[in-house]
Amino acid sequence: MAAALRGALWGCLLLCVSGIVPKPRNARISSVNFRSVLLWDPPGVRKGNLSYTVQAKSIFPKQNFNNVTTNLNVTECDVSSLSVYGAYVLRVRTEWEDEHSDWAVVRFKPMADTVIGPPSVNVKSESGTLHVDFTGPAADREHDKWSLKQYYGSWIYRILYWKKGSNKKILSRSSILLALSGTK
Ligand SMILES: *[C@@H]1O[C@H](CO)[C@@H](O)[C@H](O)[C@H]1NC(C)=O
Ligand SMILES: *[C@@H]1O[C@H](CO)[C@@H](O)[C@H](O)[C@H]1NC(C)=O
Ligand SMILES: *[C@@H]1O[C@H](CO)[C@@H](O)[C@H](O)[C@H]1NC(C)=O
Repeated sequence: MAAALRGALWGCLLLCVSGIVPKPRNARISSVNFRSVLLWDPPGVRKGNLSYTVQAKSIFPKQNFNNVTTNLNVTECDVSSLSVYGAYVLRVRTEWEDEHSDWAVVRFKPMADTVIGPPSVNVKSESGTLHVDFTGPAADREHDKWSLKQYYGSWIYRILYWKKGSNKKILSRSSILLALSGTK
């Protein structure tokens, strides 16, 4: 209670007296298979209508900051449309009436930072042979559903398999197991 009151007073002091608008907290990127979202937490102030501006700047090739979005009323912004080969500085700030906060800054390099999701796996048994097929993962962007292999070059799948109830696990690579196919 006291803490909440203190928070409210502090928020009011920040906004009402000094005119300082606090910046977004905990800005971070969440990226899986090139679907990339800049996320942040609102500043601990609930007064009035806060909105956010998100800007991005390419480091290589070097560019100036451009608006990704302005007047945003939610605390996330999809940045999947940035080229996956680039390297960027992303920044977000709080807007309140005619005031704004400092920027919260995040660096982002899609090829290095995105999390590569698991492939989809299809298993079937035929005449005593086990067939295991792998597909993907594929990019999860609006106009791009290419296999990630197109971006990263060749890759292999590792398969860990074991007999039910057994502790002995066998590790294989897709390239040396003839009954396994994972070409896509
Ligand atoms: C917040 O924005 C809405 C819609 O623009 C407006 O109706 C409302 O009065 C605003 N509230 C404050 C506290 O400024
Ligand atoms: C970003 O948007 C704001 C508000 O619409 C505008 O004032 C500013 O000039 C824009 N900045 C760039 C780099 O386009
Ligand atoms: C947030 O912005 C969207 C799009 O600009 C709008 O449709 C929506 O009503 C807004 N939500 C609130 C709570 O103001």
